[in-house]
This record gives sequence, C-alpha cells and structure tokens, in this order.
Amino acid sequence: QLYYKNVTADIIGRKHGINAEQFQELANQTKPVISELNQMRESGQVAYRDLPYNEDYPRQVKEIAGELEGKYENFVVLGIGGSALGNIALQTALNPYMYNLDEKQRAGRPRLFVFDNVDPAQLASFLNWVDDKLDKTVFNVISKSGRTAETAAQFLTIRNVLLEKLGEKGYREQVVATTDSKQGTMRTITDDAGFKSLEVPDGVGGRWSVLSPVGLLSAAVCGIDIDELLEGARSMDERVKTEDFFKNPAAINAAVNWNYYNCGKRISVMMPYSYNLKDMSDWYRQLWAESLGKSKDLRGHDIFVGPTPVKALGTTDQHSQVQLYREGPNDKLFTFLQVNEFENDITIGGNPDCAPELGYLGGAKMSKLLNSEKIATEYALLKDKRPCMTVMFDKIDAHAVGEFIYLFEVTTSLAGLLFGIDAYDQPAVELGKEATFALMGREGFTDMAKDISPVAEI
Ligand code: PA5
Repeated sequence: QLYYKNVTADIIGRKHGINAEQFQELANQTKPVISELNQMRESGQVAYRDLPYNEDYPRQVKEIAGELEGKYENFVVLGIGGSALGNIALQTALNPYMYNLDEKQRAGRPRLFVFDNVDPAQLASFLNWVDDKLDKTVFNVISKSGRTAETAAQFLTIRNVLLEKLGEKGYREQVVATTDSKQGTMRTITDDAGFKSLEVPDGVGGRWSVLSPVGLLSAAVCGIDIDELLEGARSMDERVKTEDFFKNPAAINAAVNWNYYNCGKRISVMMPYSYNLKDMSDWYRQLWAESLGKSKDLRGHDIFVGPTPVKALGTTDQHSQVQLYREGPNDKLFTFLQVNEFENDITIGGNPDCAPELGYLGGAKMSKLLNSEKIATEYALLKDKRPCMTVMFDKIDAHAVGEFIYLFEVTTSLAGLLFGIDAYDQPAVELGKEATFALMGREGFTDMAKDISPVAEI
C-alpha cells in the first residue's frame, strides 16, 4: 500500500511547510481540477487513464511473449524517451539486480538490454558481444512514428546485421515492432517485413505509455507479472479518481508540489531509498519535465513554468548531494520513496574486537540501516526547513509498482491543470529534432542548416 507521511509538515513554518489552514485552501483550489480531469477522461482526452482496463493489450503481449519463450537468450529494446524509460524502470524495480548475469536468477528467461541512445561505442560493444549469439537474440523496436532519428538509426543498424548474418528469415522472425497500428514509417516497415507487432495506443504520448504494449512486452518476457502491475494501477485508480481531496493521494501530491513551486521551491527531488526504485525516478523525471515544463498557458499566454525534477538515490547521494540539499538554496521539495519490507534482507556481520566502534552495526539488519538513514536524512532536512514527503511501499512487487506509476501519472495530469498548462505536448523538443535532421542533411531542412551553420562552426 502507498501512503503519505509528513504532507502537512507544518512544524517547519508557513513559508517552508503547509499548515492545516493552507492545506484546506489547497483542497479547495484542487477540487475543481480533480473533476475537470475526470471530465476530460470521460470525453476521451486522457486515454492513458484507461490503459489498465484494456484487456486486448495484455492478451496480445502474452501471446507474443509465449511465442518467444524458451527460444531466445537476449531480448533487446530499441527505443528512446517514453519508449525506453518505462521498460528500464520496470526491469530494475521488479527483477533482481543480477538478473542479466545470473542464469539461476533469470530462470530460463532472456537477458534484457535497452538501448536508448546512439552512442557508437556502446552499441559497438554490444554488437561485438552479441555477434555469436545473434540467432538467440530478439529485438523489440519501439517507436510510434519510426522517424525518431535515434531509434531509426539503431533499427537500421540491427536490420543490416540481421540480414547479413541470418538472412530474410532471421530478420523477419527476430524483430518485434511496437508501433502505430495504422500509419507511420515503422508501420510501413513492419508490414513490409512481416514482423510480429504490437500497438502504441492512439492518443497516448510516449511518456504515458508504460502500461501499454510499449512497457508490457519486455516486462512479460522477463517474467514480470503484468496482470498484477495492471491490477495495481486499477486499484490506485479507485483512489485517484475520487473528488474528495483528502482521500486522493494524486491530488494531495499535485497540490503540495504546486504549492511549493509557488513558494519558490522550483526543484523537485525524488530520492528512493531502494536500488530497485532508482530508475523509477528516471521515468518520473521525463514525465514531470516534458509534461510540466511549458512556456504557454492554455490560452497561449506566456507563463514559463515547470518544476525541475532531479533524481537522487539514498543512501548513495547522501555522500554527494545532501550538503547542498541542507545548506544550499532552500528551493527544493523532497519526495522520498521508502520500502518497509525488502524481499531479501541481510544481517550485517559482527564487528572484530579491535573495532568496537562498529559494534552498533554488527548483527543489525541492513534494511534497518537503510531506512534509518532515510529517516535521518529527512530529519536533517526538516531541521533546515526543507519540506519532505514520503511515498511508502510496504514492499516492492508488481502491484505496488503499478500503483506507483498510476499515482504519478495522475499527479502529473492534476499538476498540469493546477499550473494551467497542456501536460500532453512537448513542442520544445521539436526544434532540436529538426536541427538534427538539418545537420544530417535531410531533404527539406536546408534553410535550417544555413541558420545553424554559425553555431556548428563554433
Ligand atoms: O514521451 C514522448 O513522447 C517521447 O519521449 C517519445 O516517446 C520519444 O520521442 C520517442 O518517440 P517515438 O515513439 O515516436 O519514436
């Protein structure tokens, strides 16, 4: 179960905390946007909200996962942004740390690799390793359009390798495409080559698509219980659709974030105290940044808003960031992720007689140390009037992760409405994409190439 702690941290004063009166005011301000979002859902404007109820997607995903089962040792995702971060986050959260390296922990399932970049050194190293295992490797290319330069470049490279080494048959059988069901470059290539394929749902942007075939296939192939994941999202839906602010964790989360942003806390730090949850903050970082960082309000007026999401990991970043977090500018809101019960715990070894100062550690549970460090950091931050929230996981399983994902998706939608912006577009990403086309000599971008040339010379 997920719940919040310290949301009303009014021990830290009016400016840096929220007292009961302000909390009531926030409730009054947020109630109308909860019903606005519910209406948007009814009129089909937020299609991601209904993904957990779609019965076709998990069935289709399981069908393909079943066809691949036992045949492949490696499953490789080619995608970027919303077509990769959810896959990475699910894998880190729900499979063991040594999954890729330990056959026993993999229990007959393939290793997972996600390539979300066009770094030649990285891909070359992989191609070198996979060369003699190519017939045991399947590639899931995920791209709504197929025109995203990074994914297209990776795909074209893999296509060449597959055709060269395994011929037409290998190419056809060892690529699964997740793309638009009707149109786009990747749909054309898929139909032409005869790949198995899954759909990127209409009206669901990349960063909102993890609970669709985009995120579900790699999860299912790697043994993650996608039914529980979706069930978790549905159970969170029961809580986040209520118009009772005080019972709606997404509304509280959005309102608290919005409030602190308006009080000058422009940075939102997510700090899991769990390695399993570390890539969830990467997923959240994209969701938050692309959805809420906007220069125009809904009427097209200049607004320039958006909290800057920052990921940190406890305890690692205590030894890297906490000095700044406590003594630097008081411009951050902290969201901790805490786990009450770890799947595997460790009893710390006893201390040698020559080091009695380590006696407090000997025989203690490692989870106790980790969670004590979380509480200690939170305490230290609160002492310096830095507001903190905690999302508590009783344990990390597919159900809780489904709840978490849905909670933060709906939080983002509600925050978008509170900020008065469109949370579903990303117009500012386009210019950079077009400039890349121009620099790569794509037809139709000559004028832009001329405009860029002074920058390129520098
Ligand atoms: O969230 C988004 O919309 C983006 O991050 C996209 O997922 C990303 O740009 C990839 O797009 P596409 O699926 O068209 O290749």
